[in-house]
Amino acid sequence: MPLKTSSRGAIPPFIVMDVLRAANERQAAGGRVYHLEVGQPGTGAPSVVVEAIRNAVGRGRMGYTDAMGIPPLRRRIARHYLDTYGVEVDPARVAVTTGSSGAFLLGFLSAFDVGDRVAVASPGYPAYRNILTALGVEVVEILTSQAEGFRLTPELLDDAPGPLDGIVLASPANPTGTVLGREELAALVSYCAGAGIRLVSDEIYHGILYGRQAHSALELTGDAVVINSFSKYYSMTGWRLGWMVLPEEMVRPVECLAQNFFISPPTLSQVAAVQVFEATAELDAHVARYARNRSRILGTLPRVGIRGWGPADGAFYVYADISGLTDDSEAFCRRMLAESGIATTPGTDFDPQRGRGYLRISFAGSEEEVSGAMDALEEWLEPRA
Ligand SMILES: Cc1ncc(COP(=O)(O)O)c(C=O)c1O
Repeated sequence: MPLKTSSRGAIPPFIVMDVLRAANERQAAGGRVYHLEVGQPGTGAPSVVVEAIRNAVGRGRMGYTDAMGIPPLRRRIARHYLDTYGVEVDPARVAVTTGSSGAFLLGFLSAFDVGDRVAVASPGYPAYRNILTALGVEVVEILTSQAEGFRLTPELLDDAPGPLDGIVLASPANPTGTVLGREELAALVSYCAGAGIRLVSDEIYHGILYGRQAHSALELTGDAVVINSFSKYYSMTGWRLGWMVLPEEMVRPVECLAQNFFISPPTLSQVAAVQVFEATAELDAHVARYARNRSRILGTLPRVGIRGWGPADGAFYVYADISGLTDDSEAFCRRMLAESGIATTPGTDFDPQRGRGYLRISFAGSEEEVSGAMDALEEWLEPRA
């Protein structure tokens, strides 16, 4: 008889990682694959970061750091809030983490107890609900609609059954690219303040915007847990570095949790990341490329019979409504990969209930990849359009 395993580990897979495995298998067998499934920049870290690493390697011990991160990086992150949002942040409130994924674990653990009720938008980033579930927190899915631009609103939260202890919000959002305006964010912040709800604001896609402005929850409140990362705009995905700006009362609990769970975030990555804030010209050029990829995709979809999608005002995804083509997005994605080599993520990863009619197309890769994929998509789908 196999020994017992914990029920906390019995969470759903991250489907996109399963798609990635299938795509890699096809590639290893010599097949052409267009990688529009994973949400990571097709570029490496900016040159100043690579240079900083060259200089740092071999010098110094690269031992553990403070559990909350090295002081120069915490100070530089705090300054980023002044430069970008006009908000003064005490560096003592900044916790450097192992990606934003590490921040979710520490943030959720210190904000919520077992049995607390936390709302997440659906469609939404699947790890929110899966991490919360693993931690024994009850996830309350709030269904947002395509007609309303997949916006989370106080009205939708009001309709949720029972009281809430927390809300996890992302703007720009994955997979829809929905960006909340200042007033919309302010309405949610004051709803949370009025109801005693802890807001967790995932701001990982800030900087990747198409004609819109993103606002930090820090512009409006000191009570939110604000999470960000070097993985997306900063193009440092594999360096596994992110951060949180914490309300005062959560600083020491997060520090104690971080000491025990991780000891410290990756040292080499922290040293490099101090420099990345100076690389805006290089990083903005990536955003300009994402914008061209986005136009290419949005120009192609109607020609192949796909006429609805999320706003795609930020991040690097199109959440496409394929309900006119299929009612089983997982089978559709498998067939598309097998027959045309295009790897995408089925909507069920982001919305277990309605995702069978959607798929997510990532345009974080190169223009050649996206353009080749759109040609292949037209060839594959045009006869059906
Ligand atoms: C909305 C959102 N938050 C967080 C993450 C996790 O990123 P990381 O752990 O690399 O910072 C992702 C990754 O795709 C994401 O889409």
